[in-house]
Amino acid sequence: MTDSATRVAIYGPGAMGLHITRLLYERGVPIVAAITRPGSDKVGKDLGTLAGLPPLGVPVRCDAEETLAETAPDAVAVAVDTYLNQAMYDIYATIVRAGANVLTLAEEMLYPFPTSGARARRLDELAKRHGVTVTGTGHQDGYWVGLVSVLAGSAQTLHTVEGELSWNVDDFGPAVARQQHVDSTVAEFGEWLAGAARKPTFGRTALHALAAAIGLTPGRPETRTTPFVAARTIPCAALGKDIAQGRLLGYTDTDILHTEEGVDLVISSTGKVYEAGEADFNEWRATGRPTLRLRNDRVMTRDTTCTTLINRIPDVVRAEPGLVTVDRLPQLRYQASLGKASPGRASAG
Ligand SMILES: NC(=O)c1ccc[n+]([C@@H]2O[C@H](COP(=O)([O-])OP(=O)(O)OC[C@H]3O[C@@H](n4cnc5c(N)ncnc54)[C@H](OP(=O)(O)O)[C@@H]3O)[C@@H](O)[C@H]2O)c1
Repeated sequence: MTDSATRVAIYGPGAMGLHITRLLYERGVPIVAAITRPGSDKVGKDLGTLAGLPPLGVPVRCDAEETLAETAPDAVAVAVDTYLNQAMYDIYATIVRAGANVLTLAEEMLYPFPTSGARARRLDELAKRHGVTVTGTGHQDGYWVGLVSVLAGSAQTLHTVEGELSWNVDDFGPAVARQQHVDSTVAEFGEWLAGAARKPTFGRTALHALAAAIGLTPGRPETRTTPFVAARTIPCAALGKDIAQGRLLGYTDTDILHTEEGVDLVISSTGKVYEAGEADFNEWRATGRPTLRLRNDRVMTRDTTCTTLINRIPDVVRAEPGLVTVDRLPQLRYQASLGKASPGRASAG
């Protein structure tokens, strides 16, 4: 342990990166750097000002390697993109080579081994070599994996674990809205769905993390997807435009993961632009002996996404180096000591 607080950098100062900035500031955690893409109009602006805070003296930069070398963060919060493609691999690898731990909101990174195995293994080896961790966290860590594992922890036998949930696209930035095909026509959506380029869903990744957390051996995954069409014109804040009647507000993915133990894991997740009066919820049912239920209404998903990442900082700094998925971390909990004395910088191997 050192006597200084963990130093954090923000990679991707969009809707989530700026919300993480505000929450870190509130918790007294030192923010030492902010990085975005070259060509962004945010380059040179103060991170605090962008987040609606007093200036933090942290200019947004686009020279990642130099910024990380000069500011030496212990942990970097990454909120850029969902999948472990080459561009995202390069971002994580740059942070790892700088000797900092990566916490990312990227949904695939919650459990990337089944869907992007080669890159995930390369990243795992790289992180081990540099003595740091790479972890995907966010809302799913708590509400789709942690709470559900605890619920299932009071079962004697388990047959199915089924979750139904809804989240508001407008809580996030345009990257998420585009991902949910907001404002597509039904025909465009059908074409995308029929194409070979369908990427792994958030639910499928979370079910793999859940299976790992409760010791089940994953078998065959299935995904069924249905569009959610606007019945009338609805404003979309994330895209800054109205979505006309008949165009998509989002869609529902129902993922099923069959397991070798015979337990079926299911998540039905709707991500859409909300109408007035709608709110996030999630409901879980574990059938078996006894049958167990858990329902959370009016969930503040935008906040829980970012607070979960923040409360994971001490866990990832303390964890063994490598690509560490959340099933291998301690149970998610509130971290009262954040911003005060916390574990220090991992040493490079
Ligand atoms: N796990 C969860 O619960 C959860 C929830 C929400 C979001 N997410 C993840 O977080 C990501 C970001 O979401 P968001 O709502 O914050 O989206 P957003 O507002 O579009 O923000 C993305 C940010 O990344 C920056 N960026 C884009 N390409 C970059 C690059 N190559 N290098 C560095 N920075 C780059 C963008 O810069 P500019 O602003 O200059 O364009 C922007 O600041 C999503 O794609 C998703 O994967 C996860």
